[in-house]
Amino acid sequence: MWPSISRYLPWNLSHRGHSKLLSKSLEVLSKIMASNVHQTAKDGFKQGDHYDKSRPSYTDDLVSLVQKNIHYGKSEGISCDILELGAGTGKFTSKILPLLPQGTRYLATEPSEDFLSVLKDKFNNIDTKVCTATDIPLKDNSVQNVICAQCFHWFANMESLTEIHRVLAPRGRLLLVWNDKDVNIEWLSRMEDILTLYYGDTPRKNSGNWKNVFDGNDMFRCVEHTVQPGIHLKGNKDFVLNHYTSISVIAKLQGEERQGALSKFRDVLNDNFKNEEENIIIQFVSEFYCTEKV
Ligand SMILES: C[S@@+](CC[C@H](N)C(=O)[O-])C[C@H]1O[C@@H](n2cnc3c(N)ncnc32)[C@H](O)[C@@H]1O
Repeated sequence: MWPSISRYLPWNLSHRGHSKLLSKSLEVLSKIMASNVHQTAKDGFKQGDHYDKSRPSYTDDLVSLVQKNIHYGKSEGISCDILELGAGTGKFTSKILPLLPQGTRYLATEPSEDFLSVLKDKFNNIDTKVCTATDIPLKDNSVQNVICAQCFHWFANMESLTEIHRVLAPRGRLLLVWNDKDVNIEWLSRMEDILTLYYGDTPRKNSGNWKNVFDGNDMFRCVEHTVQPGIHLKGNKDFVLNHYTSISVIAKLQGEERQGALSKFRDVLNDNFKNEEENIIIQFVSEFYCTEKV
């Protein structure tokens, strides 16, 4: 259980030297916020440019499915139509924004300052904030929709779910999307096996463990679940290796350990693709969940 933030707030601001107390409290608060992020995410999501160039976008079909499931409820008390958590460098943001009605109040949030700075360079018409899923700087019942693209497994715990539930308006929606590698393709399955060597206790979407947070409580009900053909990435061997080095458990590795991982990935590529410059396709499957606040 994470410590309650209120314990660290300054109780008496009229006290002499309150600004010192306030700045100490803010320092402690930002440490608590940072501590809510898994160490692998902290270490592995530092290079926004590399991530942005090496990760897939999302198919038009998937994004339009999300758009069709966006909830537009009563506007009273609402300050945000769409809150995106773990927005990263804005890969999903850039796909959904053009589909939204003018005037949509969109807040993109992300704990990695480096990632958020890449996102901010892309858009000037949305609000952004550094924050985690457990410390959302919005009032109770003030958000129509929360979107998590490729990230819910990172914070699938009761603290985050309770926080998301708190900010959502009645019948507000929590929309989850992922791109998963198509492991029916043999060489992609071998690459996943190599990744497994580095995962340890790092949350992983395809473990399915993230679903457990919805068990034993009635905070959300599932409205829709769809699996459909996903996007693909295409490039030469170096491009494929760059993709794998953008995955947090590999991105955080240094020195010999990193070289060791790269040579394992390269062996699989060499076994399957003879030509260095051949266009290799990394095929994904899309998964979508629409849930509603109960
Ligand atoms: C795989 S990236 C997905 C980024 C982006 N949504 C996309 O579609 O490319 C996962 C993101 O989750 C964020 N994240 C990890 N732990 C988090 C937490 N506790 N609260 C909010 N975001 C978190 C990471 O910083 C990272 O940007």
